Amino acid sequence: MTTRNPLAEAGALQTPEPAAIVIFGVTGDLARRKLLPALYRLFVGRRLGFGTVIVGVGRRDWGDAGLVKETQASLEQSTEINKLDPEDWARFSGSLRYLRGEFDQPDTYKRLGTLLERLNLPSRLFYLSTPPAEFEEIAVGLHSADLSGSGARIVIEKPFGVNVESARQLNAALHAAFDESNVYRIDHFLGKETVQNILALRFGNAIFEPLWNRQFVERVEITVAEDLGMEGRGAFYEEAGILRDMIQNHALQLLTLTAMEPPVARPQSGAGLLDAGALRDEKVKVLHALRRLTASPLAENVVLGQYVAGTSYGLPVVGYREEDHVAADSITPTFAALRVFVDNWRWSGVPFYLRSGKRLPRKGTEIALVFRRPPQALFPNSSEVNALTINIQPDEGATLRFMAKQPGLQPRLLPVSMDFSYSTFASEAPTAYERLVLDALSGDASLFPREDEVEAAWEWIEPLIEANLTPKPYEAGAWGPDEADRLMSDGQHWRQV
Ligand code: BG6
Repeated sequence: MTTRNPLAEAGALQTPEPAAIVIFGVTGDLARRKLLPALYRLFVGRRLGFGTVIVGVGRRDWGDAGLVKETQASLEQSTEINKLDPEDWARFSGSLRYLRGEFDQPDTYKRLGTLLERLNLPSRLFYLSTPPAEFEEIAVGLHSADLSGSGARIVIEKPFGVNVESARQLNAALHAAFDESNVYRIDHFLGKETVQNILALRFGNAIFEPLWNRQFVERVEITVAEDLGMEGRGAFYEEAGILRDMIQNHALQLLTLTAMEPPVARPQSGAGLLDAGALRDEKVKVLHALRRLTASPLAENVVLGQYVAGTSYGLPVVGYREEDHVAADSITPTFAALRVFVDNWRWSGVPFYLRSGKRLPRKGTEIALVFRRPPQALFPNSSEVNALTINIQPDEGATLRFMAKQPGLQPRLLPVSMDFSYSTFASEAPTAYERLVLDALSGDASLFPREDEVEAAWEWIEPLIEANLTPKPYEAGAWGPDEADRLMSDGQHWRQV
């Protein structure tokens, strides 16, 4: 349901209904760094329903004035906001309320209920930006206080469980209070413009799809590289490691969007790029088609790594085991390279190589479809293969690499590129959180992993996590352990990102 915002610019933007957005864990890092800046940007862009109120729930003794002060400080530090406009800020800060309370106390939810009743807004969005251990408790608290009915929606931050069993348990706890259609699980990669562009590129054009299969694609490489180390998150990372932190969610999301079949349903009017149900059905099918990593010896398909001391952009940095809150004998992997097969008609026999790691030489996420060679080598020196690369970040765009004749009397070919860059668009892209919060407010679930999707991803990755493989060391600032190349067929190497 959408309403016309009286504050909207000429041209009438459709905005969601005015809502009470309740943020549990508003005092935490994520709310301050991502969520509040996203809400402010939506507010300034007139994308929040007129009269929307943001209620922060936390344990600290802040009060409304405290929340306003802390929010102002967060927005001023945010790289996502250029400058606080005094008028916008005055109006935005007027929509902030703070409720102090423990998440395990029924009284917190009772007082929240009274506040929500008084606000009397047509829709409610509960955003759980707390440590995962508190998700279940909050869902139960909301349900017991009768706050989860009448179409109220709940947004859950990652990580969604730590294995299949905990994900199922969390799903069951949520469903006791909320219908699945009102549950929005965050994977912020899906909110990135360039990730949505995978769908636009594939299904908004007719020229790529005929090539998008085993007949033409030799392999697919998906890299999610990060240059940072632990940044104070050692304790969390010790439990998560690269497999839970990046592969189970972000990397598998990129893989499913790349490998899925076109969804059958047509876009619903007013909703997102594609129909949520049909899109998620196709993604789940890909997860079910993933060959179990344990179907052959793990070492044939997996290389894990852990960084030791090295350099980052020329400066010395410590190894993982020397990071704060990390055990001196930790075997938590900070790098993973996997060879994965999607055992279906389209992709039979095509390896998908996934790679992600911390403390790699630079930040860069891309998906590359590497095409088969021409059937005959008519020209000398045509060794480079054709590839279509979707650059997710930081240089957003897409590149098609092919061979061209170098001018001259010799029949010499050279690789050249056709590039599309997002900088072509004059408009500024919304941040991932802006997109996802707006979609949750509007009831569009297409960019949120569904219950069965999350569980299928855990089912696939869990045997690998449980195998507890010892990671190979790699120097900080290198592209992971040398063994990562071993996964590729003879003579192949990971593409340079
Ligand atoms: C988070 C992980 O989900 O994604 C972090 O917990 C990681 O470890 C981050 O750094 C990467 O996100 P982005 O948007 O910076 O690529």
